[in-house]
Amino acid sequence: MAALQEKKTCSQRMEEFRHYCWNPDTGQMLGRTPARWVWISLYYVAFYVVMTGLFALCIYVLMQTIDPYTPDYQDQLKSPGVTLRPDVYGDRGLDISYNASDNSSWAGLVHMLHTFLAGYTPASQRGSINCSSEKYFFQESFGAPNHTKFSCKFTADMLQNCSGLVDPSFGFEDGKPCFIIKMNRIVKFLPSNSTPPRVDCAFLDEPHGDPRTLQVEYYPPNGTFSLHYFPYYGKKAQPHYSNPLVAAKFLNIPWNLEVVIVCKILADHVTFDNPHDPYEGKVEFKLRIQK
Ligand SMILES: *[C@@H]1O[C@H](CO)[C@@H](O)[C@H](O)[C@H]1NC(C)=O
Ligand SMILES: *[C@@H]1O[C@H](CO)[C@@H](O)[C@H](O)[C@H]1NC(C)=O
Ligand SMILES: *[C@@H]1O[C@H](CO)[C@@H](O)[C@H](O)[C@H]1NC(C)=O
Ligand SMILES: *[C@@H]1O[C@H](CO)[C@@H](O)[C@H](O)[C@H]1NC(C)=O
Ligand SMILES: *[C@@H]1O[C@H](CO)[C@@H](O)[C@H](O)[C@H]1NC(C)=O
Ligand SMILES: *[C@@H]1O[C@H](CO)[C@@H](O)[C@H](O)[C@H]1NC(C)=O
Repeated sequence: MAALQEKKTCSQRMEEFRHYCWNPDTGQMLGRTPARWVWISLYYVAFYVVMTGLFALCIYVLMQTIDPYTPDYQDQLKSPGVTLRPDVYGDRGLDISYNASDNSSWAGLVHMLHTFLAGYTPASQRGSINCSSEKYFFQESFGAPNHTKFSCKFTADMLQNCSGLVDPSFGFEDGKPCFIIKMNRIVKFLPSNSTPPRVDCAFLDEPHGDPRTLQVEYYPPNGTFSLHYFPYYGKKAQPHYSNPLVAAKFLNIPWNLEVVIVCKILADHVTFDNPHDPYEGKVEFKLRIQK
């Protein structure tokens, strides 16, 4: 076998290696002359400088194409989610239950509403402007201070009897509670063609053979979200934006009976029949008021 015949002793191998590291005959170090080492180092330095430059250029070009005022990745949200306050979740979704005669059972619910509306005091809405157009508030330019766009005020007093100002218990005490409905924001979403989106609440099923319809007082009147709160241009463009709200005060909830109520948003571009998202365009909740 050739390999066996060519077997070298250990000292031979050491000698060869030393020769490879420094070859006094040719002046080579690790197989190259020092001059060649300098050239090859320079070559690699130049190579990496160019690569880094190209990479930086790519990042720079990419950043130029990104508009900081719109999110680049927006979920496939075509229709907004809807949330309810007060929000207490049971095993299966929102489940609100209290005893009207026992104020400690609803103090927490009322506290949630007061806490939520704290973001809608005149002081916290100071950065926004008064709007009354009831039309879409399109803004091409950044007319507001600090290169932003204007936002419309929404103050709690617009919820009148459900503002917590006239009735600090929000009607929970006498079994006619107020619930606040909020539509989540979607950048540049226009909810409808002409009429403002409107909240409509109803019993999901007639409560136990009692074919009554739910009587509701809506605030603002008709339960509408004025169009001047749309479109929303994003957090950076509209740092003071607050979602408009609708409050629904239920007037004929039967005592000591669990009812299921669904509040839908009626608008041309809002859908509420997505089987994968029960909170898209509507909110459904159980309510039980004891006495
Ligand atoms: C509601 O609270 C009152 C007063 O604490 C109590 O008498 C009544 O039994 C409670 N009702 C129910 C259904 O728990
Ligand atoms: C509940 O009602 C009682 C008697 O009316 C009152 O003393 C108490 O402060 C009330 N508690 C709350 C949390 O409102
Ligand atoms: C906005 O409306 C409120 C209440 O109507 C009023 O007090 C306030 O002066 C108005 N602000 C501006 C800037 O018009
Ligand atoms: C503009 O930005 C500065 C610095 O961030 C801030 O102090 C000022 O209050 C802002 N002005 C307005 C009107 O928001
Ligand atoms: C607000 O509540 C008061 C007292 O319950 C009632 O008279 C009034 O009609 C309510 N306001 C609206 C706009 O329904
Ligand atoms: C409420 O809706 C009715 C019918 O759509 C309309 O006539 C009325 O002007 C609306 N009221 C308000 C305050 O928008």
